[in-house]
Amino acid sequence: MPSGTLILGIETSCDETAAAVVEAGTLVRANVIASQARIHAPYGGVVPELASRAHAERLLPVVRHALDEAGCALADVAAIAVGHRPGLIGSLLVGLAAAKALAWALNRPLIGVDHVQAHLYASLLHRPGSPPPLTQADAWPALGLVVSGGHTVMYRCDSPVDLTRLGATLDDALGEAFDKAATILGLGYPGGPEIDRLARTPGADDRAYDFPVALRRHDSLDFSFSGLKTSLLYAVRGLPLPGGQFERDHHWLSEMSRADLAASFQRAAVEAVIYKLERAWKNWSQQADCPCRALLTGGGVCANSRLRVALTEFASRHGLRLGLPDPEFCLDNAAMIAGLAYHLLHAGRCASLDLQAEPTPAC
Ligand code: KG4
Ligand code: ZN
Repeated sequence: MPSGTLILGIETSCDETAAAVVEAGTLVRANVIASQARIHAPYGGVVPELASRAHAERLLPVVRHALDEAGCALADVAAIAVGHRPGLIGSLLVGLAAAKALAWALNRPLIGVDHVQAHLYASLLHRPGSPPPLTQADAWPALGLVVSGGHTVMYRCDSPVDLTRLGATLDDALGEAFDKAATILGLGYPGGPEIDRLARTPGADDRAYDFPVALRRHDSLDFSFSGLKTSLLYAVRGLPLPGGQFERDHHWLSEMSRADLAASFQRAAVEAVIYKLERAWKNWSQQADCPCRALLTGGGVCANSRLRVALTEFASRHGLRLGLPDPEFCLDNAAMIAGLAYHLLHAGRCASLDLQAEPTPAC
């Protein structure tokens, strides 16, 4: 077995087929992603059966591509890591079966990685020649925020492998709300980048609509985005008629009113995230134990331009180091799986070949 530090990561939890080779937990030698966006676009969301079939067709070429890009062979890899939870069960099973087969055939340790926790590790990753947004020495303990298409959750992170959940969305994930908002506005899928682009239209008024920020008076660190989405729906279509029908769809919208709606939606969504981060920060500072040193963030919505600015301001307001991943590592990828796996391997947390796919999160 090689004593090296190369880990092959595999990620198939939703609609990206991904493989990566990461050295010593942070240096990304290869990060290959085969996106299925075009397969699912006509349906306005991920179709699970189509996703698992596409993973089965693409995974082995994607793994070969990653090894080629990293300039190494399977025999050089010290361990095989796989995102085994949470996600779509059929999609997870494809990656898990491949990872188990490789681990068994190569006689290497198998490491099961939590996809959501891996998102939080993404800002520690870097390409050769460019430093990571955050170094290991500066990262912990940290407040963690994952905002993606499937998850919106905050953690206290005491190390890469020691996380405690503080709160999560009670309904839609933030990325899901962006995607649904885009559908309401008649934009394409995935909708988050479309809303982001539209909201940046010169002259767009982010106060044109007073969309709600939910759970302000609520004591918890949970989020809710379904009310925001419904407010946008009613602003576009009017109140529902008896029977649940609407008298209009999005075709009446001018380009400028669509841009105002996108900008107002994005403002309220970002405000909701920062509001709960402020509360989490306040709770933490009132405790006597070790102070929070950093804000770790991850997930596809961290690619959002307005959220990136707001997170940067939040961190600087509180003197926190900021782990804001490069956009390449915000969206689903296998480098974050291989990176976090390095720490699990060194903590002795390897899996056996009966590792299960788990559709729901661990914490
Ligand atoms: O992390 P990710 O690739 O998948 C999950 O683990 O769910 O996140 C995908 C989500 C989608 O909902 C997509 O619309 C959203 O991230 N997203 C964005 C932006 N780029 C991607 N949302 C808002 N603004 C963006 N620029
Ligand atoms: Zn994800």
